[in-house]
Amino acid sequence: DIPFKKLKDGLLSVSSSDECKDAMTFEINENEPTVSITVVGASGDLAKKKIFPALFALYYEDCLPQQFTIYGYARSKMSDADLRHMVSKTLTCRIDKRENCTEKMEQFLKRCFYHSGQYDSPENFAELDKKLKEHEGGRVSNRLFYLSIPPNIFIDSVRCASLSASSGNGWTRVIVEKPFGRDSESSAALTKALKQYLEEDQIFRIDHYLGKELVENLSVLRFSNLIFEPLWSRQYIRNVQLIFSEDFGTEGRGGYFDNYGIIRDIMQNHLLQILALFAMETPVSLDAEDIRNEKVKVLRSMRPLQLENMVVGQYKSHTKGGVTYPAYTDDKTVPDDSLTPTFAAAALFIDNARWDGVPFLMKAGKALHNKRAEIRVQFRHVPGNLYNRNFGTDLDCATNELVIRVQPDEAIYLKINNKVPGLGMRLDRSNLNLHYAARYSKEIPCAYERLLLDAVEGERRLFIRSDELDAAWALFTPLLKELEEKKIIPEYYPYGSRGPVGAHYLAAKYNVRWG
Ligand code: NDP
Ligand code: BG6
Repeated sequence: DIPFKKLKDGLLSVSSSDECKDAMTFEINENEPTVSITVVGASGDLAKKKIFPALFALYYEDCLPQQFTIYGYARSKMSDADLRHMVSKTLTCRIDKRENCTEKMEQFLKRCFYHSGQYDSPENFAELDKKLKEHEGGRVSNRLFYLSIPPNIFIDSVRCASLSASSGNGWTRVIVEKPFGRDSESSAALTKALKQYLEEDQIFRIDHYLGKELVENLSVLRFSNLIFEPLWSRQYIRNVQLIFSEDFGTEGRGGYFDNYGIIRDIMQNHLLQILALFAMETPVSLDAEDIRNEKVKVLRSMRPLQLENMVVGQYKSHTKGGVTYPAYTDDKTVPDDSLTPTFAAAALFIDNARWDGVPFLMKAGKALHNKRAEIRVQFRHVPGNLYNRNFGTDLDCATNELVIRVQPDEAIYLKINNKVPGLGMRLDRSNLNLHYAARYSKEIPCAYERLLLDAVEGERRLFIRSDELDAAWALFTPLLKELEEKKIIPEYYPYGSRGPVGAHYLAAKYNVRWG
């Protein structure tokens, strides 16, 4: 458990609980800077479900700086006590069942406050500033704002926070949630507007998939094991699959979703980020800029998506075991004639020396038969395979496949051909299996914990730089426009099914079977 930490400049070098605590204790002194974390949109879904639980988990693990304060900010009228009640009641996090959880929660809540205000009111942010200053007590004050609000109010909030509530003597950072626009133009406009008030190094664009344990492990797997890197190219890899599926629909978020669709919601960010990490060249160092430089190079070497390499679908109602599951358009906030895809599959290509001709197949869908996020790497056939040659079809030597199961039930396994023990010669397919629950007793932190901690520490490696974002949108924007202009009708699939059959035809076109 030694996550990468920026603190080469001397503070922390590791952040497992005890080590966090030791390092913190070691660093405390009278002049310790304060850190105020303001969750803008604190009354919302994400704040309740992810941000406050993650902040509490960090506190429980002694990973937050000693002098921290948390503010909730939103329009809803709430008192500090209301916020504390909300935080304590809605917590469902990995810490829930741990020792002293109740006492720790009580201590944590004493650091949580609330200020009600409008998102476009410099005066309301100035009131917040005044309250923050009372806690900061004249010390060096660092401030982190987490914009957990709908995108149409990002700029107003950033303007007001930067004009009225920036730190006067420490750093001010802003975590921006997705969506970062809905195409190249709107994303560029958002970046331009943000940069009126913030420097690029103050902007932390979050993609929570980058904070997931197995996504972070991708580089470790590849760059610190001799056996993988030599195989990591078109020479040995036949195709790479990036799969996201959820076994529930857009329940409750139809209003947001209908304006974005699955391609923008999952592919253009979460899956593309994983692809870039997977395919990048070895960075010069683990420094944020070196890693992001390599990711940008991959994105810029890719071919923009094409309609003929894309399948879109939308779920329809389905009755199973006497239960009727709704169609996407049954959601009251979704127009009856909506063509928004809730499923998409695509073949992408990286036109560089390492990956020329290798299909990267992406598949993302809601209301499918299972919930999973996986990276599957299918290797080429063994040339002149001795066992196939000698035993013909009796021995079906399958190709190797490396599976990185991001969630649920994290695992990395390699499918190999193996001799079935016995006097005869029979092969089967077995797994060399690294199953996290069996191997590691410690529970896996939620992605938001890692990312919040990184933002507090100024570690930008897992956040999206503006040129990465531009390159990502450049790949998807022409296709998204074409889909919308041509009003492409999605292939309908039953709620809870495996998705549209078109996805199989798309894979077959590249001689691939989905894993
Ligand atoms: P919500 O819709 O719950 O909005 C958060 C808060 O913003 C609300 O509680 C409300 O607070 C305020 N708000 C909502 N709509 C408006 C409006 N039209 N004008 C002004 N204020 C408004 O959003 P989420 O919490 O679901 O998401 C927050 C951000 O995180 C969004 O950008 C979303 O795309 C992103 N995100 C969300 C995920 C999730 O699982 N929820 C996952 C990944 C990203 P009040 O009325 O009190 O001011
Ligand atoms: C969000 C999407 O970014 O990721 C949601 O907007 C999706 O539609 C969610 O449900 C999935 O995240 P996780 O961490 O639950 O896999």
